[in-house]
Amino acid sequence: MTDRSSPGTLYGLGVGPGDPELITLKALRLLRAAPVIAYPAPEHGESLARSIAETHLPGGQEEIVIRMPLDAGRFPIDAVYDEAARAVAAHLDAGRDVAALCEGDPFFYGSFMYLFGRLADAHRVEVVPGVSSLLACPAALAAPLAARDDTLLILPATLPEETLAARLDGVDAAAFIKVGRHAAKLRRVLEQRGLLANARYIERATMADQRVLPFAEVGETAPYFSMVVVHARGEAWR
Ligand SMILES: C[S@@+](CC[C@H](N)C(=O)[O-])C[C@H]1O[C@@H](n2cnc3c(N)ncnc32)[C@H](O)[C@@H]1O
Repeated sequence: MTDRSSPGTLYGLGVGPGDPELITLKALRLLRAAPVIAYPAPEHGESLARSIAETHLPGGQEEIVIRMPLDAGRFPIDAVYDEAARAVAAHLDAGRDVAALCEGDPFFYGSFMYLFGRLADAHRVEVVPGVSSLLACPAALAAPLAARDDTLLILPATLPEETLAARLDGVDAAAFIKVGRHAAKLRRVLEQRGLLANARYIERATMADQRVLPFAEVGETAPYFSMVVVHARGEAWR
């Protein structure tokens, strides 16, 4: 925990990948006790982090919704986080704890890091790790992530095609995140590398509408909350 002067504490709470039971006891306790909660949400519509935590909310908490403009560049996103950080800081300075809800784990590609970056120097901040999609997806796929002395690569599918192809040189095991509208590009790369047959696909892991299929059978695009897991050596755990 960073120990600073503000009387309130900002908690970055990992709420897990979707199943409300995959929240830690610590996150649950802090979530219920916080007078204020904050969470990211799309420009229009529901926040996934809040919907995961919803069954646990005690009611009566003040809520800060951090709405992300669609297809925003760096500048509008900076402005959104600047404003959210000001709103959170006002509560912390008044002695009220704020629980920031983070899908999965706060520090695994989590947008919580942008609040952390703005507030940790001058405020008390505690990060409570969560069950990340990186761990939930292999469990739901019934396929271990990496075996023995495999090297595990985590690659955002948003990278350019040539970069993805180059990074796959000599790969043992890989998890591709942010598949979404990059599914067709990723499939081309895996096919060229002879890895498509070893690629498992999962969307909305641990949620009611979870879907699992061979990546070769996925269409041109996928939902944002999807992942592809590849084992170059096949089922090395057998
Ligand atoms: C910005 S990252 C945030 C990751 C999150 N902090 C975590 O620990 O899982 C978003 C990416 O994580 C992956 N992801 C998160 N939750 C998922 C889920 N329930 N099922 C499948 N993939 C998921 C997807 O690849 C998605 O594009």
